[in-house]
Amino acid sequence: MRFRPLALAAGILTLATAGLAVAQQWESSGILAYRQSEMKVLGAHMGAIKAVVTDQRDFLASVPRHAEDIAAVAKLIPSLFPEGSGAGTPAGDTDALPAIWEKWGDFQAQAQTMGKLAEELAATAETGDPMATAQAFAKLGKEGCGACHETFRKKSS
Ligand code: HEC
Repeated sequence: MRFRPLALAAGILTLATAGLAVAQQWESSGILAYRQSEMKVLGAHMGAIKAVVTDQRDFLASVPRHAEDIAAVAKLIPSLFPEGSGAGTPAGDTDALPAIWEKWGDFQAQAQTMGKLAEELAATAETGDPMATAQAFAKLGKEGCGACHETFRKKSS
């Protein structure tokens, strides 16, 4: 067979493109898995704090640790939502609504609000007042998590 450099080059290019497509697909499903895991971590922290303020008050000293991690995730949230990773895109199985990228400023502000409320919860728990801690927890759940989900997350049917 005669050596055909052009055909060879085309073949290499095809392989490289296919590899890139696979890599991109892997990358976008990776970000979904990671951000949904981070959200589950938030859910676990909230569950732990709820147990403390409900009837496990001996563990009040653990609340700042949970709340500080929630505040840390708040800073991360914008980078967990790269453009093109929402519902209705080829990114995969996600409840992230297109509104996130249409109202990006509001979305970021919502993440910041969650961070601020989590810091407030940590500071309140540090005072050792269980009632005030329960109130700060409820506020974080409603105005931090709930408010963002209301606008930016697909309702589960
Ligand atoms: C700035 C917006 C925003 C904030 C704040 C936020 N979330 Fe979310 N959350 C989302 C979006 C968007 C999704 C859907 C993500 C997806 O499916 O890719 C989600 C998904 C979730 C999920 C489902 C994850 C899964 O299994 O797919 C849980 C649980 C969750 N959030 C808990 C929380 C908790 C608890 C808080 C507050 C401590 C919180 N979230 C704060 C936007 C937010």
